[in-house]
Amino acid sequence: MSRNVLNRWFGKDLGLDLGTVNSLLYEKNKGIVFREPSVVAVKKNTNQVIALGEEARQMIGRTPGEIVALRPLREGVIANYELTKELIRYLLKKAGKPRIFAKPRVVVSIPTGITGVERRAVLDATLSAGAGEAFLIEEPVAAAIGAGLPVHEPIGNMVINIGGGTTDVAVISLGGVVYGLSVRVGGETMDDSIVRFIRKQYNLSIGERMAEEIKIELGSVYPVPGEEEQVGEARGRDQVTGLPKNIMIGAAEVRDAMKEPINSLLNAVRQVVERTPPELVADIMNQEIVMTGGGALLKGFDRLVAEELNMKVKLAEDPMGCVVIGAGKTLENLDLLKRALVGAKKASR
Ligand SMILES: Nc1ncnc2c1ncn2[C@@H]1O[C@H](COP(=O)(O)OP(=O)(O)OP(=O)(O)O)[C@@H](O)[C@H]1O
Ligand SMILES: [Mg+2]
Repeated sequence: MSRNVLNRWFGKDLGLDLGTVNSLLYEKNKGIVFREPSVVAVKKNTNQVIALGEEARQMIGRTPGEIVALRPLREGVIANYELTKELIRYLLKKAGKPRIFAKPRVVVSIPTGITGVERRAVLDATLSAGAGEAFLIEEPVAAAIGAGLPVHEPIGNMVINIGGGTTDVAVISLGGVVYGLSVRVGGETMDDSIVRFIRKQYNLSIGERMAEEIKIELGSVYPVPGEEEQVGEARGRDQVTGLPKNIMIGAAEVRDAMKEPINSLLNAVRQVVERTPPELVADIMNQEIVMTGGGALLKGFDRLVAEELNMKVKLAEDPMGCVVIGAGKTLENLDLLKRALVGAKKASR
């Protein structure tokens, strides 16, 4: 039988990254087939789903009374079980029609340090959304695999995954985390800092999305040449008059605003290096520390970490895709990578 025919008989292999900010789906032999915001819009009293993903994100803060746009995940953990199930169901549907006999096998990434109850909730949500078999992988391990690090070997691999709500710093060897730290600081913490800075300095209250735009456009951790000319507009509401107001803000100010979260991240990274066994640190020195997650895209971040640690650091090729790619790849290389999986459950028949 040709491979194509066989493929139609067996279930698909999928990787799923349910992030606080973005959800992604990876399909074996295809790559990333979906990336959209983790937002679900529902009717308030009936909980009927109106929209998901980007369409739902557009509705945040703009919905009429009876509709709410919600994010079912907080710090990567299921905050709303039913909506998470809806989100997974929607994502699995995006992978196309189910195969003739088998339901898909899905590897889902989870934050490090979540409880057994939370882990089971993720497995159950995945199975009841239509998976035939569900597996769990810790986010930093998935990120490292997705970034191409040889995590299955007995050498130290270090990854810094900066998401929206959390950052994981981990040293991985033989498929597991040898030493790691997870801190509740991420891209959204930086947005919050920008909101607070602008409120304090300019008496202007701006929304989170405005702050994120400013961060992406102007944010950096290093002064860049010609920076004085780099200014952006912040639109919001004057706190004194209550009326709309725009101000111009410079790149140096944005950097200043984000100082605190950036320093907490650097501290976490430093701590992990300090507490990692010397043999593994030597391994890491010989390769490169890899930065993944959307937050790692902040301009100059890789250079800052490199200088702080005096080690080689690189930004992964597709920082926001690494986790889902790594999750999906475990099923492609199950022999090598099955140690990376930390939980599994089959659908009951
Ligand atoms: N170019 C950029 N510069 C700075 N930050 C960026 C850039 N692009 C995206 N981000 C930030 O990356 C974050 C989202 O990253 P990512 O998709 O990795 O998070 P997530 O996986 O959903 O979150 P978590 O892992 O915490 O659950 C957002 O806070 C976003 O503002
Ligand atoms: Mg993530």
